[in-house]
Amino acid sequence: MTDKQGAVRRLIRYLTRYSGKFWAATFLMALFAVFQAILPLIMGTATNDIVAGNMEGLERSVLLLLFFSILMFITGMLGQRIFAAVSQQALCDLRTELFDHMQSLSLNFFDRQPIGQLMSRVTSDIDVIDQFFSNAFQNVMQAVVSIVVITAFMLWLSVRLTILVYAVLVALSIFIWVVSRISKPAFSVLQEHISTLNGYAEEHIEGQKVVLAFMQEGRSVEEFSKVSRDAARAGGKASFTALITLPISITSTNLQSVLLLGIGGVIVVMGRFDLGLLVSFLGLSRGITGPLSHVFMSYSMLMNAIAGAGRVFAILDETPVVADRPGASAMPKVRGDVIFDHVDFAYIPGRTVLLDNSFHAAPGQVFGLCGPTGAGKSTIINILTRYYDIQSGSIAIDGTKIDSVQQDTLRIQIAQVLQEPFLFSDTIMENLRYARAEATDEECIAAAKQAGADGFIMAQPQGYQTFLADGGAGSLSQGQRQMLTIARAMVANPRLLILDEATSNVDTRTEKLIQAGLLQLQQGKTSFIIAHRLATIRHADTILVINKGQIIERGSHAQLMEKQGFYHSMYMSQFRGKLAGITKAA
Ligand SMILES: Nc1ncnc2c1ncn2[C@@H]1O[C@H](COP(=O)(O)OP(=O)(O)OP(=O)(O)O)[C@@H](O)[C@H]1O
Ligand SMILES: [Mg+2]
Repeated sequence: MTDKQGAVRRLIRYLTRYSGKFWAATFLMALFAVFQAILPLIMGTATNDIVAGNMEGLERSVLLLLFFSILMFITGMLGQRIFAAVSQQALCDLRTELFDHMQSLSLNFFDRQPIGQLMSRVTSDIDVIDQFFSNAFQNVMQAVVSIVVITAFMLWLSVRLTILVYAVLVALSIFIWVVSRISKPAFSVLQEHISTLNGYAEEHIEGQKVVLAFMQEGRSVEEFSKVSRDAARAGGKASFTALITLPISITSTNLQSVLLLGIGGVIVVMGRFDLGLLVSFLGLSRGITGPLSHVFMSYSMLMNAIAGAGRVFAILDETPVVADRPGASAMPKVRGDVIFDHVDFAYIPGRTVLLDNSFHAAPGQVFGLCGPTGAGKSTIINILTRYYDIQSGSIAIDGTKIDSVQQDTLRIQIAQVLQEPFLFSDTIMENLRYARAEATDEECIAAAKQAGADGFIMAQPQGYQTFLADGGAGSLSQGQRQMLTIARAMVANPRLLILDEATSNVDTRTEKLIQAGLLQLQQGKTSFIIAHRLATIRHADTILVINKGQIIERGSHAQLMEKQGFYHSMYMSQFRGKLAGITKAA
């Protein structure tokens, strides 16, 4: 319970940040409620005027009714308008904060959940919070203010009848509360189902090619409809409260009127109360059940918002595991001297991935990393770039331990070309410039030429200004995209370079082109090159052979071949494979 109150309070704090506007809106709501309470009073007077045949009085009452109705309209509209502005501002703040924060989170946060599911969940959570800000919260606020004001007026008219009205209201509230207790857990279940559903849809539509390739369409559809049915069932349960609330509140309003008319009518007939007062009272009491049923109807929205807010706040409260130390200084300009000293690392505590790794790369040296799949090659890169912190040992660049400096200032000095080329949906030029914002067009073009990408870029409809929809996935080949990421790394031109399997998935001719670009890129940089195809690291100064998280052999290609160990057999088997390929083709 406190958790939920916490979430609501925290949401409200986003609104009260704009305290001036917030209180102005609240004040207008209160005025609205006062006018709303005055109307039945005037109707009471008008009734007495009718009974007494007082035309003049009736005329005055009608004019007053008109006047206050107009005032009500103005205050209501202004209040809503201001409140809408505040709530949109609050939502915008929350969204921005969330986006900023997610960007700052360490990679391990994203390891834990599929990105598709995370994104669809965040999107739908923000939607329900929007509903809360712009709808539910406002309804509840207005209702509370109205109920307080109207109750004050009712008490002023008759304490006994007020108690009667409240007796009915309390009965109604208890009933709705019981119903909601029963169907409450359904709301969180519903949200869970919806996000699974969205995640599933996203993943399968994205992976459509794979689905088709394995002829699994039937299975996809079947699984999706199962997930979808689950969501529908949960939805049915969850909306039960909302469905039952309206008929109950209408019935209870009617019940209230009947009771008031019966009991109040008797008092009037007995002459202890005048008819006008009874009419006023009836009007006022209707003014309470209306807002109260609004509160109940906002209940499901409120529950959804609380569930959504809980998850959003959980993300906001997630602290990056890889955090800068307080007072960490900026990484000085890197020369490229890298030392791993007895480094141990595990992604999941207790499950060691790297064990006791030590090596020294001098500025400008090229290091090749090879070994079987899952050996830990990419992991070495992940900790060198400090996407994860190591458990023991130390990593130093130019003698500075990397965990003692601000991570951004370290990472910006390392260029990476990864297995999966990633480009943004922007122009080719802006994609090249992404690595170094102040690079000029000329520098970007020079880098593209050096990487061997200029030719196909110029063949694009608008050359360097061609917009890459969907990150170029539709218009460029994988090899071409890879060459753009190489050119991008050249624009950045830092002293440390990381290449992770940059030449896989392309044909031999493109591989040659990329290879040439990569060799250019390695000039004057300390480079770490992960390769499955050992030919790509033949030229390396030192090759580290990794197996099961440990460096089992090291040396130049020639040295390792001479040793006739693990590397030698890996190389020979690849070489034989290639020979076999050539003879087969011939
Ligand atoms: N984010 C992660 N969380 C938990 N374990 C991980 C994570 N990433 C990798 N691992 C595990 O760490 C080990 C080393 O993985 P790594 O990606 O470094 O291998 P690799 O040598 O790069 O393999 P490949 O040649 O296939 O790219 C593997 O056992 C892998 O399952
Ligand atoms: Mg890898």
